[in-house]
Order: sequence, then structure tokens, then C-alpha cells
Amino acid sequence: MSTDKNRVVIFDTTLRDGEQCPGASMTLEEKLEVAELLDTMGVDIIEAGFPIASNGDFESVAEISRRTKNAVIAGLSRAAFADIDRCAEAVRHARRPRIHTFISTSPVHMKYKLQKSPETVLEMVAASVARARGHVDNVEWSAEDATRTEIDFLCRCVEAAIKAGATTINLPDTVGYTTPSEYEAMFRTVRERVPDADKAVFSTHCHNDLGMAVANSLAGVAGGARQIECTINGIGERAGNAALEEIVMAINVRRDVLPYETGIDATMLTRASKLVSAVTSFPVQYNKAIVGRNAFAHESGIHQDGMLKNNTTYEIMTPDSVGVSKTSLVMGKHSGRAAFRDKLKALGYELGENALNDAFSRFKDLADRKKVVYDEDIEALVDQEIAAAHDRMKLVSLSVIAGSHGPQRATMKMKVDGHLVTEECEGNGPVDAVFNCIQAIVPHTAKLALYQVHAVTEGTDAQAEVSVRLEDGDKAVTGRGSDPDTLVASAQAYIIALNKLQTKRNSMNAQAQPAAE
Ligand code: KIV
Ligand code: ZN
Repeated sequence: MSTDKNRVVIFDTTLRDGEQCPGASMTLEEKLEVAELLDTMGVDIIEAGFPIASNGDFESVAEISRRTKNAVIAGLSRAAFADIDRCAEAVRHARRPRIHTFISTSPVHMKYKLQKSPETVLEMVAASVARARGHVDNVEWSAEDATRTEIDFLCRCVEAAIKAGATTINLPDTVGYTTPSEYEAMFRTVRERVPDADKAVFSTHCHNDLGMAVANSLAGVAGGARQIECTINGIGERAGNAALEEIVMAINVRRDVLPYETGIDATMLTRASKLVSAVTSFPVQYNKAIVGRNAFAHESGIHQDGMLKNNTTYEIMTPDSVGVSKTSLVMGKHSGRAAFRDKLKALGYELGENALNDAFSRFKDLADRKKVVYDEDIEALVDQEIAAAHDRMKLVSLSVIAGSHGPQRATMKMKVDGHLVTEECEGNGPVDAVFNCIQAIVPHTAKLALYQVHAVTEGTDAQAEVSVRLEDGDKAVTGRGSDPDTLVASAQAYIIALNKLQTKRNSMNAQAQPAAE
């Protein structure tokens, strides 16, 4: 039975803590798509970004605020008034805005990072929360590095934050150092000692440096927290944050010992995982709990035998409870447009007419080349279609001469700003020849920092999925392409990354312009 007392609020920070980790940056369109999915799946609070960090971050928090229908939209700010005011400006369009302000409270952070005395920090806690409350009613205050903070000082800070009007108190394990029993005890102590602790909702925020982020988050709830901060696929600073999908399914599957409720539609977890992996180009490890491709795969004879007799022998949850459809295969070259549209809907995509037509014609090409087309192939194809929709540069055709007698030679046609350009280049191997063609057509200074190939499905006719990371100065972007031909997928991935770099550069240039009054 769900009562207010056992309802745990899910605060997703994929777009803030998740996006902050190296290589996971997303474009505005990608963030909007992720935010829309989070809202639809029942996330209570979406932390959309850190508005003072850049104009791009500000814009995405503002746009997510305008568009989100249900969830509370939070923006992050440090304790400085300029941060808080900028954050307020970004979230003011939200139906339900929240300002999340934080300051470090541990001795090591106060001494070396802030270079401030505990008394000054305490004053800043009260002042920052009061400033945020001047803008919105919903204010979260976080004690950064709470788990390495002296408990008496932590209690004084929490008391000051509540007195100044904080409605949520977050006690992060910023460096992933705590253990479940220690974290649970910290929440119990703070909630017992601080006057008016029951006026605020307490929150967990755990990093995964020792692999205990999910266990620690659930222990925090046992200690009285009722908000969990987490990210899709557990992406985040360093080893990442607590994974949303693991928290939700631990609560759903082990209700006997975890008597809590969330508002998440768990059947959307797989879709969310795939979307975040696609837009960040962070692959999900095969054995990742809940959303890894092996999470519901049974290989050994003994396990398969058990599963055939009764699936509860080796499965503690059903694949469909997390949105994995067992019927993976089905579309082929005889499938029509209506069936394709239905399939996309089942996979969670709603495309406009033009995008649907483009995706359908690419699907037909694929079905001609590949015996069977799996759901994963269709997802890879559509993700790429979405990524390419607004791009300046597009691959038109590619042919490559490769083999044991070099040099390898590629001929490429690309459309750049609507103009068709053709180039022919040699290279030290076919991939090098392909990338040399792109360099000749679109001269650029970006360096290739990562090149990875995976098979989307099985068999020698499987689609290859290529991830490319480009770095140019302090900017890094990733692109992902898929095609049964690895070289075509490589070219697509590189061009998608170049387009992203261009978009980033344009937004940086726009930021450099003086703002029009
Ligand atoms: O890990 C952390 O402490 C944070 C805070 C800013 C909430 O991300
Ligand atoms: Zn964090």
C-alpha cells in the first residue's frame, strides 16, 4: 500500500551530474529529448543543468522548464548570489521550479577548495538559502561532501538551512566513500538532532567510487531520506552516480524488505537507458544490472533448462517489467510503412511525417542488405536519423578499395550546407582513407580521441555501431553511426561528431556576442 510516508521521490540528475562527466556532453535537442522521456516515465524532479556554468546550460534549463509538463525542474547553483539569481532566471518558466543550492561542509573542502572558515560557511548556508527562497518556494540545499563532514557541524548547517527556508536537505556522498550502515546512521542522527528536521524532505546523492552508490542510497532511505538523486545508466562524475533503473527495480522487486514506492513507470527503463547511451555515446556494459544486454540472457545449459521449465528459476523480474520485448525479431523487407510506424511506436518513438519517411527508406535499404532486422537495428537507425535531422554536413555515398595491397582508397560524396562535394583520398588503412576524405571536404583541427566498433546484433550481417570522440581544444563531442558496413558507420559517426562540434562552436560564438537588451 502506498502512503505518503513510504513514497520515495526520484530526482534525476542525468542532465546535470551525468552530463558533467567527461565525454557525456549533449546538445540542446538531445537534452530536450531526454527530459521529455524522464517526464513521461514519472521522474518527480529533473535537474536540468547548472545555469551559471555557460549560456548553453542556461538555455537548456530554460527550455526544459518551458516544455516540461509534470516534473519539478531544478537548476543547480553554488552559494553565490549571482549563481542563485541566474538559476532563478532559468527555472522561472517551469510550472514547478526548484533552486538547488550547495556548499561544501567537510574540513578538507572548506580548507582547500573554499578557503573559508566553518563560521563563514555557516553564514553562507543561511544567506544562500534565504536568497533562493526570495525567488521560489521550493529550495533544496546540499552539504557537498557531507559524508566527510563532522557531524556536529553538519547538524548546525542543516539547522541553518531549514531555518532559512530549505524544503529539501541533500546529504551527498560526493566522493563515493561511505558505506550503507554509516550512511543510514548519518541520516538518523541528523534527523534526530536537528530541530524542525521534519519540515524538510531528506535526500541521498551517492557516487559510485566504491561500487556502493545504489546500496548507500537505499540505506539512506532506511535512515529516513525520502528523495533519491540518481542518473540513467548511473552516468556521472568519475565512477558515476547511483543508477536510477537499479534503485527503481530494487524497490519494485524487493518490496518485502524495501517497503517503498516510486512514481516511475519501470517499463520505460530500457528505452531511457538506450536513449541516454545513444546521445552520450557511453556504451552500457553488457552485464549492467537491469539494462545490460545480458541482463536477461541465459547461456549455460543448466540455466536454459531451468528457464524452459519455469522462468522464475533464474529470473527475479520479467524482461517486460523493464521494457525489454522478448520478440526482438520481426521486421523484414516485406514490412510496410504502417507496420514500421507501429514498430517505432512500440519502441517508444513518435516521428513526424518527414522523419518517418526518411527512416522508412533507410529501413528498406537495411532490410535489403540484412536477412533479419532486429529491434536494436531499428533503434540504432532511428537514433541516427534523429541525430542527423538538423545537421549541416551529411554523408551521401562512400566507396572504398581495401585489401592486403595498399594504399587503401576512399571516394566520398558529402552534402555541406546543401552543396554536393566529392573527394578521393588514400589512407593507411580504409578507416584512415575515409577520415582523410572528411578532412579534405571539411578541413578542421579536431583530433580523433576515440574510435570504437560494436556489433548491434549478432551474425556477420549485423549492423556495426561505431562511436567516435573528437576533441578540439577544450571541447569534446561524440558521434555514433550504424550500418551493416563498418566503414559507412565510421564515416557517419565522424560526421555526426563534426556536426555536434560545429553546433557547440556556434553556441560558443553566440555566447561571445553581447546580449541584446
Ligand atoms: O556530488 C555532489 O556532492 C553533488 C552536489 C553538487 C549535489 O553533485
Ligand atoms: Zn554529485
